[in-house]
Amino acid sequence: MMRQKQGSEFGGNRPLLGPVALGDLRLPNRVVMAPLTRCRATNEDLVPTDLHTAYYGQRASAGLIVAEGSWVSERAIGFPNVPGIYNERQAAAWSRVTDVVHALGGRIVLQLWYAGADARSVRELTPADIGRTVAEYGAASENARRAGFDGVEIAANGTYLMARFLNPRLNRRTDAYGTHRDRLLFEVVDAVTAAWDGRRVGVRLSPYWTIDDAPSADRSRDDYPYTADERTLVGHDTVVAGLNEHPLAYLHLRGPAPRNPVPDIDAIARYRKLFDGPLIANHGYDRETGDAIVEAGIADAVSFARLFIANPDLVCRFALGRETAISDPATHYSGGARGYVDHPIWPGSRTPPVPR
Ligand SMILES: Cc1cc2nc3c(=O)[nH]c(=O)nc-3n(C[C@H](O)[C@H](O)[C@H](O)COP(=O)(O)O)c2cc1C
Repeated sequence: MMRQKQGSEFGGNRPLLGPVALGDLRLPNRVVMAPLTRCRATNEDLVPTDLHTAYYGQRASAGLIVAEGSWVSERAIGFPNVPGIYNERQAAAWSRVTDVVHALGGRIVLQLWYAGADARSVRELTPADIGRTVAEYGAASENARRAGFDGVEIAANGTYLMARFLNPRLNRRTDAYGTHRDRLLFEVVDAVTAAWDGRRVGVRLSPYWTIDDAPSADRSRDDYPYTADERTLVGHDTVVAGLNEHPLAYLHLRGPAPRNPVPDIDAIARYRKLFDGPLIANHGYDRETGDAIVEAGIADAVSFARLFIANPDLVCRFALGRETAISDPATHYSGGARGYVDHPIWPGSRTPPVPR
């Protein structure tokens, strides 16, 4: 029987606009806001402010917001003005954000981040350091739950602590954390999931990372150790297969950089075969390519980063087939309210205003 294509060109039945369950997270649409470090926690306590509340509130129509990478402990800090989730003050400030997002009908999880020292100078963590790190993740996850988040996402992507343990070029340990490079991640997953009932924890991986994904300061390095190759890809296969044994809500994959400018859907399909749970695809998607990967059954949801910076009402624009705005990189990591909460919504958009 021929499969009937549902809905009209501009209707609400496009693949991205259908509901989906990611574990116990029930999304009314599959348009996810990707985690975005915006460096607006310009205060000593590294707490989110009213600006954060407005910013996330404006984006509450996303199927799911993955709030910016936030430090799990003081030792995890790697960059200025990034919020934390390691103490009561931070949890209390985040609860204002989650309250407003929920009041506006949204869902929000927090990305848990641990930067770690620069790869060239890092000393090997002792077993005691590792135990403490795992415990810090567990406590941060508990703080996030008490702050009203719907779940958390573990950042094991990029070039930070979790990714370093997974990397065969950097992890030269001879103990169990080196012979099983994924052991730290799995211990962290267990500590983080213990804070939640059901499936409310996601993991983010970037198996196709290259120097082009790196911040510009790193691009001049000739010893860049993070570039994906066959060995690291096979390593990620093992990690993903191992994650099936843990009660996750989803796996969030940053795919390769899009080419001309189409995202590589096959690169995500590799993980569809390996991972039993829901997949979120990311990197360079738009309305058409996002619909295509969902329609093909390769991803359950798609996350959008830069598009959500410039289009708080992205879901509505997708539904109406309206043009999307482009963000200004100059305000990505600084600028206060500018480039953060001042992106207009289209007239007639149903994104509600943020209450005062
Ligand atoms: C300003 C900025 C901040 C980002 N911060 C994070 C972050 O905190 N955690 C993370 O996992 N990825 C982060 N990313 C990566 C994005 O989540 C995403 O993978 C990337 O922008 C590609 O998606 P896009 O093509 O939809 O923008 C950031 C990207 C940008 C541009």
